[in-house]
Amino acid sequence: MASQAAANPGFTPRIFSGIQPSGGMTLGNYLGALKRFAEKQDEGIETIYCVVDMHAITVWQDPEKLRHQTREITAAYLASGIDPARSIIFNQSQVSGHAELAWILNCVARIGWMYRMTQFKDKTAGKNAENSSLGLLAYPSLMAADILLYHTTQVPVGEDQKQHLELTRDIAAKFNHDYGVDFFPITEPLIEGSATRVMSLRDGTKKMSKSDPSDASRINLTDDADTIAKKIRKATTDPNPLPDTLDGLDGLKDRPEARNLVNIYAALEGVSAETVIREFAGAQFGTFKPRLADLAVAKLSPITEAMNRYMQDPAEIDRILGEGAARADAIASPILAKTKEIVGMIGR
Ligand code: AMP
Ligand code: TRP
Repeated sequence: MASQAAANPGFTPRIFSGIQPSGGMTLGNYLGALKRFAEKQDEGIETIYCVVDMHAITVWQDPEKLRHQTREITAAYLASGIDPARSIIFNQSQVSGHAELAWILNCVARIGWMYRMTQFKDKTAGKNAENSSLGLLAYPSLMAADILLYHTTQVPVGEDQKQHLELTRDIAAKFNHDYGVDFFPITEPLIEGSATRVMSLRDGTKKMSKSDPSDASRINLTDDADTIAKKIRKATTDPNPLPDTLDGLDGLKDRPEARNLVNIYAALEGVSAETVIREFAGAQFGTFKPRLADLAVAKLSPITEAMNRYMQDPAEIDRILGEGAARADAIASPILAKTKEIVGMIGR
């Protein structure tokens, strides 16, 4: 935070992050994003959490499902401890400034920058990229708009979003340079903790993802206790025990599946991976996996239950989103108006 103040003097520290309502939530979303979003509320910085429905439609979404998933992500925010009294929670499309600033940033960013994004390459791999939506290509510029619309100084995300955040910095710097201003902050990514990249339970070299065709590869926030325990028991591992020395983490370097389970344990328990290795030095997976399953169930079941409870009352969820949108808009509007003025657009 000290470095943050130094990097962006004159900007009030502000946190913004978002999750796409494009499918169910996984343990990766929980550990890499939700859990950390909630923790950030205790740091005395304004926190804004968005359900990015405009990002979701860069690939086709069934309208009824989109509505359901938007409410489900909101329920997951609330169930993870994000408190609408302490944070702003809203869905992106209710604040029109996101789309308006995205257009201006589309004219600052270069097409080549977009083609270089690995997420774009991954999502179009094996397909005809020319046939994907224009929105999918421009996605990172909308993400930069989400962040810069609030003069955000810090963005907590998982490792996979690092490149998009670097691009956000490039776009902010180019805007400031092109218009000769010091208007947008150069946002800091917050990629912290032992679970910045939770891997698939079937293949330790692949990210745990809601879009993986194998349901056994992930833990969904909607899975019941038995399913969670079964998936962990069946997780792919090598036949060796956990290392029995304090520098055991080095021993996990070439054991991605083992490393992943240790990281998950550490993140769920809120301790370092070193602490986990110390506790389980020399243990077989036959011992470690049931303990991990118990821990995962103990930590996730209350969240799943709370999510289900919130989902019983969609009108209340919509009310929270509406109220959050009004509060977000109040911050965004003057920043958008100033941006337009800098660009040379006449306003009212
Ligand atoms: P998405 O579901 O792609 O909208 O991602 C929402 C947030 O969850 C982002 O901050 C991602 O970086 C984070 N995230 C998604 N998958 C993982 C994972 N496997 N490990 C850690 N963080 C993740
Ligand atoms: N691109 C992010 C993801 O796929 C979601 C996102 C959109 C986001 N806008 C954002 C994350 C702004 C942080 C800040 O996970």
